[in-house]
Amino acid sequence: MENLRLSPLISEDEIRNRVVKLGATITDKFKGKDVVVVGVLKGSFMFFADLIRAIDTDLSCDFVGVSSYSGTQSSGEVKINLDLSRSIKGRHVVLVEDIVDTGLTMNYLRRHLENHKPQALLTASLLLKPDALKEKCEVDLVGFKIPNDFVVGYGLDYQGYFRNLPYIAQVSNIN
Ligand code: IMP
Repeated sequence: MENLRLSPLISEDEIRNRVVKLGATITDKFKGKDVVVVGVLKGSFMFFADLIRAIDTDLSCDFVGVSSYSGTQSSGEVKINLDLSRSIKGRHVVLVEDIVDTGLTMNYLRRHLENHKPQALLTASLLLKPDALKEKCEVDLVGFKIPNDFVVGYGLDYQGYFRNLPYIAQVSNIN
């Protein structure tokens, strides 16, 4: 896209190594359990696909879809536009987010899933911007803490673009 500069922040290798470690941590916690891994669309799809391949226990996949962003700003209002396809009651659940920014989406989804009474709920986010949090937000597993800048790649977008970058980059305006 025009007038945008991409500055690489996290390389493919760094992502790969970290995702393998996160998968091993989830395996340690849930080994022998029948796990449901819930990905938050669209941004988590690439992280999700790599993470589930790094988890060594029986698992099934489900997805939720939310919207809260326009451009680079959170609207502050989280809406679910795709909900779970099967019950998670009594199940061991891993919620997989791409990034925690204000924390609103993660907190909203945690409450939403807890209302369905899983036996255990573990939350994982590839990225966390500690300086952007607008409310207290506890995430069990975080891939990388990053500065409060807008980032794209590895599933994350700016206006629908850049999801296909295999690494994470900061976006800035040239003008
Ligand atoms: P939060 O509710 O403000 O924590 O935002 C969570 C959602 O906003 C994420 O799942 C992303 O879809 C989107 N988001 C927040 N920050 C970024 C960013 O830097 N790049 C791309 N998407 C982002």
